[in-house]
Amino acid sequence: MLEEKYYPDRKLAKDARIRNMCEYRELMEWAKEDYEGFWDHWAKEKIEWISPYSKVLDESDAPFYKWFIDGKLNVTQQCIDRHIEIRKNKAAIIFEGDRGDKQIITYLELYRNVNRMANLLRNEFGVQKGDRVVLYMPMIPEAAYAMLACARLGAIHSVVFGGFSAEALRDRIEDAGAKVVITADGAFRKGKPYMLKPVVDEALKNGCESVEKVLVVQRNFADIAWIGARDYSYNELVVSQPDECEAETMDSEDPLFLLYTSGSTGKPKGVQHSQAGYILWAQMTMEWVFDLKENDTFWCTADIGWITGHTYIVYGPLAAGATTVMFEGVPTYPDAGRAWKMVEEYRINQFYTAPTAIRVLHKLGESEPQKYNLSSLRVLGTVGEPIDPPAWKWYYESVGGGRCSIVDTWWQTETGGHMISPLPGATPIKPACATFPLPGIMAEVIEPDGSPVKSGEQGLLCITRPWPSMIRTIWGDPERFAKSYFSDAVKDGRAVYFSGDGAVVDDEGYITITGRVDDVINVSGHRMGTAEIESAIKKHPHVAEVAVVGKPDELKGESIFAYIVLKDTESGLGEEVELNREINDVIAGEIGNIAKADSIVVVPGLPKTRSGKVMRRILRAIAKKEPITQDISTLEDPSIVGKIENALKCSGC
Ligand code: PRX
Repeated sequence: MLEEKYYPDRKLAKDARIRNMCEYRELMEWAKEDYEGFWDHWAKEKIEWISPYSKVLDESDAPFYKWFIDGKLNVTQQCIDRHIEIRKNKAAIIFEGDRGDKQIITYLELYRNVNRMANLLRNEFGVQKGDRVVLYMPMIPEAAYAMLACARLGAIHSVVFGGFSAEALRDRIEDAGAKVVITADGAFRKGKPYMLKPVVDEALKNGCESVEKVLVVQRNFADIAWIGARDYSYNELVVSQPDECEAETMDSEDPLFLLYTSGSTGKPKGVQHSQAGYILWAQMTMEWVFDLKENDTFWCTADIGWITGHTYIVYGPLAAGATTVMFEGVPTYPDAGRAWKMVEEYRINQFYTAPTAIRVLHKLGESEPQKYNLSSLRVLGTVGEPIDPPAWKWYYESVGGGRCSIVDTWWQTETGGHMISPLPGATPIKPACATFPLPGIMAEVIEPDGSPVKSGEQGLLCITRPWPSMIRTIWGDPERFAKSYFSDAVKDGRAVYFSGDGAVVDDEGYITITGRVDDVINVSGHRMGTAEIESAIKKHPHVAEVAVVGKPDELKGESIFAYIVLKDTESGLGEEVELNREINDVIAGEIGNIAKADSIVVVPGLPKTRSGKVMRRILRAIAKKEPITQDISTLEDPSIVGKIENALKCSGC
């Protein structure tokens, strides 16, 4: 373990927005002493309101907290219109395609493109405030236009990651009751075209009655089927649209978007975010955590299908008036120097990615960063999963030249923006540690009764006061919202938000995230519910029972490990390899390739208690080849443990 602390570079600290720990503590004290006053100050300073709010926070209907009551705004005015006067010809988006094609979109062009798309949706498709629009898009500028066009009209967008299958897409369209789907014919990956529109066609084949129109951006100009009176070409329709579109007046608490994420049950949750609170924190964290300055160029490598892409490719950077880089493809194509070449080419100042990407880039091109001029970099970020010290060290030394601050940002789809992170000009960093809660965020590691955990012991990572960018509800299921997030811990007599993560606090107050304590696993920074994967696998006709656990993986952080009990062991199944392939095909069809299992082992049974509960802890230990410390005598059949271990030995897993 690396024990030492890394202090911010002197010059970086001198010019930073938060310059030292005293300034950090002052902000935190202010928030603790006058919580509403703190947020009132920032909301007034940062947001361009159409009309002001009458109250900062309404806690009367907890946990359905409301922020900036009665305030009116439009998020696209915050992200675009207000920049036109002073930044009209500044690059808003720099786009680089998979094949090296480039586009620079200025704020003025962004304004026009978003307005044209909004007019198209309003005039041709009748999209109105409150309608749901599902986006199934590749990483192209039109994806950002589509999100912003929805926001301009007050329609609620729900972006579905392009790697999800038709089945998963259908579930999300149906749950949201979407009126319109926006997609592309396809796009490019590793130099080759791939398709998206056929997946939408497949999803809409059964059900999805709410969908009236499909808008197709032609990106790779592949041959696709066009269904009359349903499918329309964006490229054809957009040219005749006016480039002025009146922004809908939105209430602070109107929904801005839904984003589906996995929980510990099979059904994904439509996390609902609001307008004002979300955009406020998206902008503030851009400024504080990335220390964003006027001339900075910011690159977040996420996909817009995840919350990181929402907050730190589109909404945060644009609200802050930054230049945001968007890229299609993978950072390892055409070679492991792709990312560093882009950093050099665009003189990128902040680079934000996932630990899995760092591990892959490290493995494939340890000395690749040295071939490029990376001197523009000031802040390096990580997100989505714990980063291990060796990857951290390589990032710090080889990419950051020992000069950049690394911000290990902990947050979630539900939190809307960063919650715990170093501040690049202030925080002495301990490698692979998220450090301290951001000013205004009351993140605490506690026991279920609200008492603080002892230093070095794991507790529940909770946010003990509401915050502006928090999830408002689960779309269509307020009960599930309250139960999922506000039923595990209580502090001062009040149910508090529990993140699902465990964490440890050291004697200096540094917080290290230890990972999920629920049945959610994190593969390459992608969050997946074991129950979701299990219900997919159960659709295989020969599977009687299944249990999925996460297994530590050198590159992906965690990999998916499935224990299968067959209905009939003599069912004439072919080779084990064949079964594994079939099961992974089922997963790919039900969820998508991202949920494929790395290890599938057929076992004679699962370790269950007498009441029938599967003991996953035992299965996790077996997968990790760790000794079983739990008392197995209470199992319905204690001998099953040895049998499972044998099955693993035979299968070579
Ligand atoms: O387990 C935590 C992990 O990712 C989960 C949230 O996943 P998702 O909602 O998909 O959002 C990912 C991007 C914000 C968390 O519950 N996680 C996120 N950031 C970190 C992390 N684990 C360790 N360190 C982090 N910095």
